[in-house]
Amino acid sequence: MTPSTLRPLAQDWGIGGPGGTLSVAGRRPYPNGRTEWKARAMRSALVIGGTGLIGRAVALRLLSAGWNVSVSGRDPRRMPTELTAAGAELVLLDRDDPAGLAVAVGTGRDLLVDCVCFTAAQARVLLPQLSSVRSAVMISSKAVYIDDAGNHINSASSPRFKKPVTEQQPTMKPGDMPYATPEGYGANKVAAEQVLLDSGLPVTVLRPSKVHGRRANPPREWFFVKRALDRRRSVLLAGRGEGGDHPSAAANIAALVEVVAERPGCRILNAADPDVPNGLTISRVVAAQMGHIWHEILLDEDAPHDLGWHPWHHSPPIVLDTTAAQALGYRPVGNYADTVADEIDWLVDNVAVDAAWTPPGIDPETASSWFNYAGEDEWLRKPRVSR
Ligand SMILES: NC(=O)c1ccc[n+]([C@@H]2O[C@H](COP(=O)([O-])OP(=O)(O)OC[C@H]3O[C@@H](n4cnc5c(N)ncnc54)[C@H](OP(=O)(O)O)[C@@H]3O)[C@@H](O)[C@H]2O)c1
Repeated sequence: MTPSTLRPLAQDWGIGGPGGTLSVAGRRPYPNGRTEWKARAMRSALVIGGTGLIGRAVALRLLSAGWNVSVSGRDPRRMPTELTAAGAELVLLDRDDPAGLAVAVGTGRDLLVDCVCFTAAQARVLLPQLSSVRSAVMISSKAVYIDDAGNHINSASSPRFKKPVTEQQPTMKPGDMPYATPEGYGANKVAAEQVLLDSGLPVTVLRPSKVHGRRANPPREWFFVKRALDRRRSVLLAGRGEGGDHPSAAANIAALVEVVAERPGCRILNAADPDVPNGLTISRVVAAQMGHIWHEILLDEDAPHDLGWHPWHHSPPIVLDTTAAQALGYRPVGNYADTVADEIDWLVDNVAVDAAWTPPGIDPETASSWFNYAGEDEWLRKPRVSR
């Protein structure tokens, strides 16, 4: 059978039995009990930045579905052993090197996932490679969205979105200022998105929110994990713990990427978990998994500023509308509590090996602002009428 007689792979995905013209190697069971008919030719993917948080999860998902996967990174020491064990190939590549990128992409890739596209210039470097790729995914961010007042997630003032944010929500204006800055991150992402989407090529822009998973940099759950490890007897939560910011499990993003691989298109999709736990719920998820019990101190507006702040403290909570992703076929692998368990295990296991271990992205400045135990204890010692 020649490749031209194969049905488009988009029709092969999880929708029952064999097509009349599809060459099949055999049936493989799906987790949900359905049956997959797998094309004889192994599908090929390149994940740029595949040794990091999202890229690793995407690579693992594709490998387990039988894909041939190459991942790129600059440092071979960052290659996850589980990716090597599962058969991934590591390509050492600087994302900004056009010649190296062309060699890494090669020809005939079914899927290209770019986790390292932060600027319009980087998008332009990628563009010439996309004509030979069947489906491409650019990982953007919900940081592009602005509210009615122009505020975004990195503004000094938290954005106030009145309802779940759809892909039609206004975004920051595109910009080319330094991207690793509060005003530059979202603006440069918008500019990069526009370069890719304006090409009309089958590029899907994914906009995740706060991503969690093994290798997160930084893992925001460390805020509560470390408190549990330190046997803190109380946890303080600003805004009564009601603030929230939609989490996006790397494993759920990977599930959406696999759908996009099967259904190429030029589009934007929010990528987030099926639920939006608030700070109080997240603290409880962490404490429960670690078998730790603490007093929950739910702080009102009159509490000192910064006391009880946590990484999800946004009021009203920031919620991404994932209707479009679901309509395309996105089925999350689990809710927040299910999917965050692996990250918590990773954190706890590392501390068990080395008590002084600190996760990536938790520099001394971050640590001192996240873990102001002295300030908390001083406030707790003060007598007050009611708490
Ligand atoms: N993490 C979040 O909460 C979050 C939220 C929203 C959006 N996003 C977006 O998601 C994307 C991926 O984020 P992530 O958290 O998965 O990142 P990450 O864990 O920091 O991983 C980054 C990956 O890219 C590689 N890399 C970095 N610079 C590179 C370069 N110049 N050339 C080639 N490879 C390079 C890294 O490996 P080496 O260092 O070895 O090169 C690593 O494999 C980013 O575009 C980010 O904007 C992330």
